[in-house]
Amino acid sequence: MLVVKIGGSLDGAEPLVRDLAHHEGELIVVHGGGPRIGAELEARGFETRFESGLRVTPPEQMAVVEQVLTQLGKELADRLSQLGRLSVGLSGRDARLLRAEPLDERLGRVGRITAVNTSLLFALMSRHLTPVISPIASAEGGPLNVNADEVAAAVAGCLGEPLVYLTDVPGVLADPADPESRIPVLDGAEVEARIQDGTIAGGMIPKVRAALTALEFGAPWVMIAPGEPGSLPRLLSGKLGTRIVPEKISREV
Ligand SMILES: Nc1ncnc2c1ncn2[C@@H]1O[C@H](COP(=O)(O)OP(=O)(O)O)[C@@H](O)[C@H]1O
Ligand SMILES: [Mg+2]
Repeated sequence: MLVVKIGGSLDGAEPLVRDLAHHEGELIVVHGGGPRIGAELEARGFETRFESGLRVTPPEQMAVVEQVLTQLGKELADRLSQLGRLSVGLSGRDARLLRAEPLDERLGRVGRITAVNTSLLFALMSRHLTPVISPIASAEGGPLNVNADEVAAAVAGCLGEPLVYLTDVPGVLADPADPESRIPVLDGAEVEARIQDGTIAGGMIPKVRAALTALEFGAPWVMIAPGEPGSLPRLLSGKLGTRIVPEKISREV
């Protein structure tokens, strides 16, 4: 089984959806929605602000965020279903799939996952239905927006299954301006150093941090890879993407 998180930056990437639909093994799909949320908020006259790659979500923007994410999840589940992989679009508010608590009041309605209803996921998968999860969580005082990278990490960690982040870059890059500078393996200390020196920035920050959280929680491996056709089968060859590990073992003699 594989937990796959599809970046909002890959919204509408039909070849990727086909790959997922035709993937041999079991899948749990988590999706983001940043660009579409940004466009919808702008169209309605709201301002958008990020802190360390996390979307600040004032309470008055929450309804728009939830609408856009839920619609995206339904679209993705419908498309996968049409292509032969019967899928169910779920919000974290369904059957308390995702529970959260507010992360930091300066971020508004942004949550941190505290519990995952894994039995709902098992129930669907036992009937050969693929869960497609929108990153909205149930909480006291109303729903919370949770970064999709963190949702995927919580799900993969709880289930002890591998996690793949599919995004719009070839992996973590040593120089974000140079697509040839992919780093094949990164450990926890290197991740923090590169956040500090600024080579890892923006939306890549929650991704690498969530990758480390997933490993701590019990995911056997985590990859950050490009969401291009043929990615999924090529991931394990090491020729694609960035593998995140807790610590590297020295090969010196
Ligand atoms: N060192 C880095 N390597 C790769 N991407 C980086 C790096 N630092 C910042 N980024 C940015 O992170 C983005 C991926 O995060 P994000 O836009 O949130 O995508 P997603 O929708 O997949 O979550 C890349 O498109 C890139 O602009
Ligand atoms: Mg992102």
